[in-house]
Amino acid sequence: MYPFKYKSSIVKNRWYMAAFSNEISRQPIERTLLDTPVVMYRKESGTPVAMYGLCPHRYFPLAKGRLEGDDIVCGYHGFKFSESGECVEIPSQEVVKARFCQPVYPLEERGPICWIWMGDLDKCDTNLIPPYHDFGLDQEGWYYSSENYFHLEGRSQLLVDNLMDLTHLPYIHQQLGEGGDTLKKIPIETQERDESYRILRKGKMPWNPFLALIFGESAAYEGLADFVHLSDFYGPELIKTSIPAITKLPNGEDVPKELGQMLILHGITPETETTTHYFGFSTRNFRLGDKALDVFQYESELQVRQQDVDAIKAVEERLDVAAKKHKELLAMADVPAVQARRKIEAMLAKENPILDE
Ligand code: FES
Ligand SMILES: [Fe+2]
Repeated sequence: MYPFKYKSSIVKNRWYMAAFSNEISRQPIERTLLDTPVVMYRKESGTPVAMYGLCPHRYFPLAKGRLEGDDIVCGYHGFKFSESGECVEIPSQEVVKARFCQPVYPLEERGPICWIWMGDLDKCDTNLIPPYHDFGLDQEGWYYSSENYFHLEGRSQLLVDNLMDLTHLPYIHQQLGEGGDTLKKIPIETQERDESYRILRKGKMPWNPFLALIFGESAAYEGLADFVHLSDFYGPELIKTSIPAITKLPNGEDVPKELGQMLILHGITPETETTTHYFGFSTRNFRLGDKALDVFQYESELQVRQQDVDAIKAVEERLDVAAKKHKELLAMADVPAVQARRKIEAMLAKENPILDE
């Protein structure tokens, strides 16, 4: 499947975002993750559970059933399953003869996010959850905001490609104005780190109205400021972009603490081979708890992400036919996207030996 040579383009052995923590409650929800229907709910203790979402009896969605303590009862004929997936009751008979277990999946709640592992159990290790310390989540002096979710009608790789090539900013996100234009012209550097594959852009940008909105009206400067812009590819499941961080003021002075870092996170979870759950959130280490900034940023991010979602949908609708007709024309700015594809291709090669015809 485009752009990979394997039948499936979904890497299984990763921790993916299954849900924001506040989505999972005592009311079961159903979400298809990695081409598999999953039901999620909380036990009485508050611990979240993820289980294969269809009842093995007649494939009724378990999310339409109800909880009894920590067990879930199917809403069709009342088969009951414990939190570990075991079928513990069939109301129409005295005993459950054959021992049957629904698959359950490791679900790890870390702060505002529940991560799910649907790959090989012998490879499941919570140390592989993306490194929160690297993007300010649940860290002292950092603030979490702008939680949002989009259903993307496109394969997850198109979102990875989109985030690894920010030269689309001045075209898809014209409202960002000069900021986007500046990034387009800056040469990129790349770094292989323990935590991520990093893309850096360093340059000068005019102090503009967008920066004033982010850093506050009092932070008003004239002229060109030095900045660094970082993107981090943690894996197919999470990418970080950011608002350019100012490293020197236009007047040459050092940057005050108030001009901190704002990071934009993109959780990417395949729903099917051609559709994706897109989870967005942001962290920052300045203007902590500033509601006016929260509102501005939330609205801005909704707009930006919707624009990407619309663009990717337009590509997905044409992709299968187009990719058979001609090869992609690649540009210099595609280096990070190509590199990310290589990394994903290597992950797929380990898991998925079946080549596409
Ligand atoms: S479909 Fe669930 S009990 Fe029959
Ligand atoms: Fe974008």
